This record gives sequence, C-alpha cells and structure tokens, in this order.
Amino acid sequence: MEAIKRTKIVNVLKSESFGSSVCVKGWVRTKRASKNVAFLALNDGSTIHNIQIVADFEFIDEAILSRIHTGASLSVIGTLIESQGSGQKVEVKAESIEVLGEANPDEYPLQPKKHSLEFLREKAHLRFRTNTFSAVFRIRHAMAFAIHQFFNGKGFYYMHSPIITGSDAEGAGEMFQVTTLDLEKLPKTEDGKVDYSKDFFGKLTNLTVSGQLEGELAALALGEIYTFGPTFRAENSNTSRHLAEFWMIEPEMAFYDITDNMDLAEEMLKYLVQYALDNCRDDLEFLQNRLLEEEKMKPQNERSDLPLIEKLEFVTKNDFVRLAYTEAIDILIKSKPNQKGQFQYPVEWGIDLQSEHERFLVEKHYKKPVILTDYPKQIKAFYMKQNEDGKTVRAMDVLFPGIGEIIGGSQREESYEKLKARIDEMGIHEADMWWFLETRKFGTVPHSGYGLGFERLMLFVTGMGNIRDVIPFARTPKNAEF
Ligand code: 4AD
Ligand code: MG
Repeated sequence: MEAIKRTKIVNVLKSESFGSSVCVKGWVRTKRASKNVAFLALNDGSTIHNIQIVADFEFIDEAILSRIHTGASLSVIGTLIESQGSGQKVEVKAESIEVLGEANPDEYPLQPKKHSLEFLREKAHLRFRTNTFSAVFRIRHAMAFAIHQFFNGKGFYYMHSPIITGSDAEGAGEMFQVTTLDLEKLPKTEDGKVDYSKDFFGKLTNLTVSGQLEGELAALALGEIYTFGPTFRAENSNTSRHLAEFWMIEPEMAFYDITDNMDLAEEMLKYLVQYALDNCRDDLEFLQNRLLEEEKMKPQNERSDLPLIEKLEFVTKNDFVRLAYTEAIDILIKSKPNQKGQFQYPVEWGIDLQSEHERFLVEKHYKKPVILTDYPKQIKAFYMKQNEDGKTVRAMDVLFPGIGEIIGGSQREESYEKLKARIDEMGIHEADMWWFLETRKFGTVPHSGYGLGFERLMLFVTGMGNIRDVIPFARTPKNAEF
C-alpha cells in the first residue's frame, strides 16, 4: 500500500470525505472484540474524542490484534466511513494496522476504568494519556497562548526576568538557595560565617520568588511589560493551592494607578475565561461532566451551585466587587460563621486573610469575584504604595470562588524617600536593593502591577480541585519525582 500522510484525529473527525483513505496514529484507549470484528478507540492527543477503528478479521490478522491492548500505539491505514452510532460521525475501517509499541496489560497501569486522581499523581509520567489530564493540559496550553495574545494585543512587551536572583522580592524569606559550594566543606570567613564570595556568583543567590522587581525596571522605560515564567517558593504548606514551583504572569505598567491596575486585572481574567469558553469547548464539557459525576457522590450541602461552564460564563458577565480590606473585616466580623465560631482563624483588623475568609466573602457574601484593596502595611511587601493613613498600603488581591486569592498586586511606592524608609524599617539589605531604589531616584513615575498565579487560574478554569493536577509535574514538599 502506498504511504499516505498521517492526519490528526481532530481533523479526521471533522472530515466528510467518506470512502477516502486515511492514516491515523495514536494510543489505544479501549479494545472491544466480537466474533469477527474488533473495535479500537484510538486517541492521539489532538482532541478529547477518540476515533473508532473497525478491524474486521477478514482484513486484519488476528495475530496483530492479539498484540493490541489499552495503551498500545498504532499506525492505522484504512477507509473513512460513516459511523453506525459510535457517538461520532465517522470511523475508520482498517486495511492495515502496524503496532508501533505494545503495552503489556499485566503491567500497564492505566486500565479503561476510572482511576483516582491520587493514583494518577503517582503515575504522572503516563497520566497525560487519560481524558482528564489530556483535557487539562490542552487547556493549559490554550491559557498560556491567550495570555500572550491578550498582552500582545494591548502593546505590552514580554520581558524575561531572571530565574537566579540575589534579592527576595516578597520579603517572606521562603527561598531556595542556589549554590555550587560543596556543602560538606563550606568555605568560612574569619567570623565563622559561610564565605559566599567563594560561591559561583560571589554572593548568596536563590531561585526567584517573583519577576516583579526586574519587571518594574523594564516598565519604567518600556511602559507596559509582562513576565511569564516559573517562580519558586520554599513555603512548607502542603495545601491544594500551593506549589513550590509555579508559573506566574506579572504585568507591570508605568503611569497606572491602582484603579487602572484593577481594571486591567479584571479585563484580563474575563478575556482568559472567555478564551477558554470559545476555544476549549470539548475539553470543558468533558471536565464539566466529570465534575457532575463527582458531585453526585457529595452530600447536598457541599455541591457547588453552578456547573463548570455556567460558572465560567458567570465570571465573564458580571462586574467584580471592589472593596477595601477594612470593610471586608467588618463584614467578616459580623458574619454568621464568625458569630458562630466556625472560622478556624479568628478575624480582627490586621490579620492576613485566610482562604476560609476569602472564600466566605466570594462564595457566600457577594457570590462574585472580589477585589480587595488597601491592606494593612504589616502584612504586605515593602514595595507597595503607602496610603495617607500611615496604616495601609495600596494593595489589591483578586479573590475567586473555589480558589481564594488568584491575583496579588499593588500600586508601587514611587517616592524614593518613602521606599527607602520602608526598606530600612523592614530590615531589608539596602545593598541588595540599590538598583531598585535608583529607579525612584531617576525619573520615577506612578506605576502598578500584579501577579497572576497561572496554576490558580488553571484550577478555576478546569474546575480541578488540587493544584498538583493542573501542572504537568508538581513540585511540593518531599516530592520532586519525574
Ligand atoms: O501575592 P503574591 O505573592 O505576589 C507577588 O509575588 C507579587 N510580586 C506579584 C506582583 O505584584 N507582580 O503572588 C501572586 C500570585 C498569588 O495571588 C497566587 O495566585 C500565586 O501567585 N501564588 C502561588 N501559586 C501557587 N503556589 C504558590 N505557592 C503560590 N504563591 C503565590
Ligand atoms: Mg499574595
């Protein structure tokens, strides 16, 4: 048979050229055999949908078929025919099947049944081959692409911030150190401390927790920039919303005040969710059905109000609520769960809001995304613009249903004196920050920015419940397999 070019399954499924020859390649999801014919569901990752291969024993040697099980990879040549009710319009009547790689059914861990997400985390090298994870990672691609499209369309420049830095942008001290020193034989200074002048960079360095500080440098010349890269935090929090390695999108804009900043964040989130609705329909429908199945197992009061797609549409259609931290604290203090002592963490002015508080505001009180502003300065980073009241800073956090904080940002302190005073007050090494301070010394301007946690966005868009399931290979405490 003459060689014919492979067609991706997504395109074969759309084709109506019945009777023509096609070549498809992919991995077997299921095999069903009857007396004289076998049906194979083949998937190549181009779509959530499988193509059905009809292997009639008249044309296909049973010896070949006996080598085919779930997980095997095949190259199939055959005729495109109209389907007799396989759920698809078309199927392929096989004329020849080449087994590219077998998958021994006694060893292959993914069987055609429902596996738990926990089990699949242990099999992260193979979980791409499940419907759920292929859907999640196709959507992840679409969201990354949409982010670039959104900012490019607005004239923002994509800025590559460094991954190795000497500063702690967030001041939380949750950093992974980067060193080439021999940990068994550390060079010491006269006073017995580690001598970092002998280290690779001649100073103490770490993996970045944020690209913001370098982003600001670029924004104060290029106007509007964004970073999109990996960030690292050694916070020992084993939650369903924290990773030690996650991706962050950090736009930074000269001449934006906090209102401009909030407008951009809201517009961006709506754009991204709309992009998913417009471009990832099949995958979203699959994930929605998966969630609906899961919901059936839950008690009535724990079920979510809206199916996934309606929840996404709701966000694109409604204005986000905007209010100050102080007002939010008032609401929380008066709230039923607080009065009844149901919050795990007590509420008072000055606390860093816990996810239970954020979710109360978003899911119970407003039933809408909320942007909180003007947080106490004690709980926020040094670079935020200080308000007149001397107590709060011009911070903004965007809170989402089911997630809590999805974005953190602020207007930046543009006054050299105020910023330097805050750096001193917080005991930050000025020697590490001289370059950052110089932007305020030379041609400073009001400016703002924020950071969107990419995996938090992914949690929202896919409806997945655990952040480990929306990044290909999760890095969490005591876990860096794969
Ligand atoms: O609020 P954060 O710490 O803000 C910053 O890093 C600023 N430099 C951003 C800026 O203004 N340019 O983090 C921003 C977002 C959070 O809202 C959250 O979505 C996500 O990053 N994030 C995490 N995501 C996963 N795992 C973690 N450990 C995260 N920590 C923060
Ligand atoms: Mg934050």
